[in-house]
Amino acid sequence: MGAEFEPDLAWLRAKPGTKWAAAGEGVLPAWIADMDFAAPEPVRAALTALVDGGDLGYPVWLHEGTPLRAEFAARMRLRYGWDPDPAHVREFSDIIQALQAVLYVTTAPGDAVALHVPAYPPFLNTVPQMGRTLVPIPVSRDGAGDWTFDAEAFARDVTERNVRVLVLVNPHNPTGRVFTHTELAALAEIAHQHDLLVISDEIHADLAYAPHEHVPFASLSPDAARRTVTLTSATKAFNIAGVRCAVAHVGAEWVRDAFTRLPPFLLGDVGQPGVVATLAAWQQGDAWLAGVRERLDANRGLLTAALTAAGVRVDPPQATYLAWLDFRGTGIDGDPAAYVLDKAKVKLSPGPDFGPGGDGFARLNFAAPASVLTEICDRIAGALPRAQ
Ligand SMILES: Cc1ncc(COP(=O)(O)O)c(C=O)c1O
Repeated sequence: MGAEFEPDLAWLRAKPGTKWAAAGEGVLPAWIADMDFAAPEPVRAALTALVDGGDLGYPVWLHEGTPLRAEFAARMRLRYGWDPDPAHVREFSDIIQALQAVLYVTTAPGDAVALHVPAYPPFLNTVPQMGRTLVPIPVSRDGAGDWTFDAEAFARDVTERNVRVLVLVNPHNPTGRVFTHTELAALAEIAHQHDLLVISDEIHADLAYAPHEHVPFASLSPDAARRTVTLTSATKAFNIAGVRCAVAHVGAEWVRDAFTRLPPFLLGDVGQPGVVATLAAWQQGDAWLAGVRERLDANRGLLTAALTAAGVRVDPPQATYLAWLDFRGTGIDGDPAAYVLDKAKVKLSPGPDFGPGGDGFARLNFAAPASVLTEICDRIAGALPRAQ
């Protein structure tokens, strides 16, 4: 593993981004989903070339659709055997904007929207913020420790609560679960029977660990393809969230039509640097991606061993660099993230922010140098009530 995945602490502490800058004096940050590693060299080179070239004027693709459309389709074909239509791709500044825009044009206040919980907080909050009704699909651990859900109970809720939209996050944040073909097929069948729109956020797909394999929801069947809006970006796998660039593949024709009824410039255009960075990541970043996945996989093992030994329940995530830690056996009263921040000076994401199922949990971002992650684990282990 190269030195690029072992940045030193002085460099990390000087980073201007929110992860480190907002952590507080002496605190090690393991909260927001940014990695501690510099963005891939080809991405930095492409952005440097853009700036050095001096032309930051209107790009040739303005209002016409960016080169990301064809690149996204090619990448999906190559990596996942899914053949999306580039003509159905739209750009957004980020995934949350895309989710809100799709919900805005497809649902009305009061409509029921289903989402697995615990859930990525901005998604969880979006539903009530838009006046839609949240129908939670609880995930819980099965006998093997895999986070899964009761498809039959979901089917009943769809009928009884008149669900119109399923928002799927796969791989799942915060549990890191990669839903299997069987689980996804059960959702696709329910979607078919009840004519649901499926909005499938697959932003973490490139970070699935073997043997787990990501299956794009739209690739399940022609019916699934016709009812799915797939959301993704290069921002998680390539650590470039600040460039603000995402794509939506709008497989549902009625949703494409609904977008054409909006004022044409309401949603704006994606910026040139975002497109340049995303293209560079997708076209030239896969060697970096392979390296970072190796680092993350090793970190996953390190973290699981260290915190399990300390009495925290860790079910290793099947994807992502986020671990959903179960502190309920540690003797902590109240929110574990608040306790750990206070006693261990480590900043985690509080479990209750993720909604139902979050009490007693916290999410830890392990995309850190091994030395920093080791220190994070040592601090947490040493601060737990049972260690006192
Ligand atoms: C599941 C999921 N969706 C979306 C996002 C955010 O994407 P964006 O910054 O493009 O809104 C994140 C960020 O961590 C995420 O984990």
